[in-house]
Amino acid sequence: MKRVITYGTFDLLHYGHIHLLKRAKALGDYLIVGLSTNEFNQKEKNKDCYFDYDKRKSLLEAIRYVDLVIPEENWKQKVSDIEKYHADVFVIGDDWKGKFDHLEDLGVEVVYLSRTEEISTSKIKKDLNQENVLIYGAGESGVLLVKESRINPNFPYRIVGFLDDNPNKKGGKLYGLKVLGGLEDVEKIVEKNDVSKIIISMPSVEQSKISNILKELNKLKDISVKILPNVDNLIEEGNLS
Ligand code: CTP
Repeated sequence: MKRVITYGTFDLLHYGHIHLLKRAKALGDYLIVGLSTNEFNQKEKNKDCYFDYDKRKSLLEAIRYVDLVIPEENWKQKVSDIEKYHADVFVIGDDWKGKFDHLEDLGVEVVYLSRTEEISTSKIKKDLNQENVLIYGAGESGVLLVKESRINPNFPYRIVGFLDDNPNKKGGKLYGLKVLGGLEDVEKIVEKNDVSKIIISMPSVEQSKISNILKELNKLKDISVKILPNVDNLIEEGNLS
């Protein structure tokens, strides 16, 4: 029987974890997971777990790819675990690439599996703490905001979609985000997506049209509205230097 061992925290279990565990199990017949204890996480990784150890353990035990869950309490135990549990393969995500090559000296095969993109426990925690926002204006400047949100770790909002007055854009997608509708649908969209802020991002639309939109948006309850400055304003204010 080929035994595989892996380690991790697996807090707020997500599809990236399941994908890793499935591929880990496929490397052998029996999968052991060294599950980091809350204390180990706090002390060594400076991370607080949302679910405590017992809850994370029972979630893992309910997964068909996992055969045994053991506690991970320190960095050093991997060597003794590999011997104790007669592991043939040590596997972990490639965020750890190269870090465990030395385990090969124990005769174990070391495999780094590619991480699933765009998901992690930290991302889930961050997203849930952020304000949900809509961008009004499915144009170039809206797209710039979405791009910024993807690359800037300090971007303060979670963009849930676009609004646009052009009915032809409705249902379309920009950077994976849907154009959800226009002014007539806004109340429903806000409610459905738990939105608390709308950013108007239409720098080349004339002021009177923006004022109309603003008048309607201000009727919505518990919604704050931000307007990105249009190009004329920027030039008048001399902000381009
Ligand atoms: N993992 C993965 N793909 C992801 C997230 C995690 O393959 N998108 C893998 C890790 O590489 C590791 C295992 O799942 O081998 C457990 O990772 P863990 O650190 O518990 O999960 P993360 O979601 O990365 O947690 P955090 O954001 O707190 O680092």
